[in-house]
Amino acid sequence: MTSFPDVRLRRVRELEPVRSLTRETRLSPSNFIYPLFVTHGQGIRQPIEPMPGCFHLSLDMLAEEVAEVVELGLPGVLLFGLPAEKDPVGSGAYDPEGIIQEAIRVIKQAAPDLLVIGDVCLCEYTDHGHCGVIVNDGAGKGRIDNDQTLELVARTALAQVQAGADMVAPSAMMDGQVRAIRDILNAYDYPQTPIMGYAAKYASAFYGPFRVAADSTPQFGDRRSYQMDPANRRMALREIESDIAEGADIVMVKPALAYLDVIRDATQRFDHPMAAYNVSGEFSMVKGAGKQGWIDEKAVTLELLTAIRRAGADIIISYHAKEAARWLRDEG
Ligand code: PBG
Repeated sequence: MTSFPDVRLRRVRELEPVRSLTRETRLSPSNFIYPLFVTHGQGIRQPIEPMPGCFHLSLDMLAEEVAEVVELGLPGVLLFGLPAEKDPVGSGAYDPEGIIQEAIRVIKQAAPDLLVIGDVCLCEYTDHGHCGVIVNDGAGKGRIDNDQTLELVARTALAQVQAGADMVAPSAMMDGQVRAIRDILNAYDYPQTPIMGYAAKYASAFYGPFRVAADSTPQFGDRRSYQMDPANRRMALREIESDIAEGADIVMVKPALAYLDVIRDATQRFDHPMAAYNVSGEFSMVKGAGKQGWIDEKAVTLELLTAIRRAGADIIISYHAKEAARWLRDEG
């Protein structure tokens, strides 16, 4: 005899143990990477206004911060630097004594088992705010020179690894950047250091708060010549395919929430570990509405992070990582 309405779907929801056993996607602190912004100076823990709960931290404040990250069960941090000075070629990025290199040394000392990932880009270090070297295109306009930038990006990755970084994450979206980094790391005897490629990185308005945090707003033009058009999905798969061919060990889609379809398609197509960057604007929207009491920040955040996992991401880079880890722990 058939019973209508069909109650089989209801039965697996009725009892919590059954609900839990049949849950398809799980969220755990072990999925998260927490981004940090490191700055010069002493005793600095300066709030980043559009990103409540995030700070510019000076080197002497890092030990305490990473102790908390470790205590919460987060496996890794992703580092961004604010250099003392900027110049046209982003020297601070690959200076062996640059802010990121110093931060890596401090963190490896304070928390040797924490995975330290260097974000490899020039935009925080260039005075024009672009991710690469600008050359005159002859018509009086600047354009990014891909190949000159590649060399500097590779040197940046090497400087980070020499300082002790466990992994590097090139985000400049230059063609060939993963290959250039793999080559230089191999040449300097770091064949075991993995590369997490920002493979499908969109030219997104969701990076607004980060550009305030990293002081990396382009002084002219925009990033559309090297970052992807939000309208394109298949092109993201080509970008990912090319990062994998160049030797990326982990590939990334960024931003996450507006691009869940891309994450899903990519994980169905490729077997490489997939990271998703839950970017600053996505974080700030939730924070802002949460602060107003318009949404339940905790519930919304956990729902969104679960959605990123459900789409297929193995790793989530998120400014919500510490709070989410705490909430998950509280819930048991
Ligand atoms: C550097 C970089 C950016 C972000 C990560 N790495 C900024 C950009 O491309 O403009 C954005 C991260 C975020 O919004 O949280 N190229």
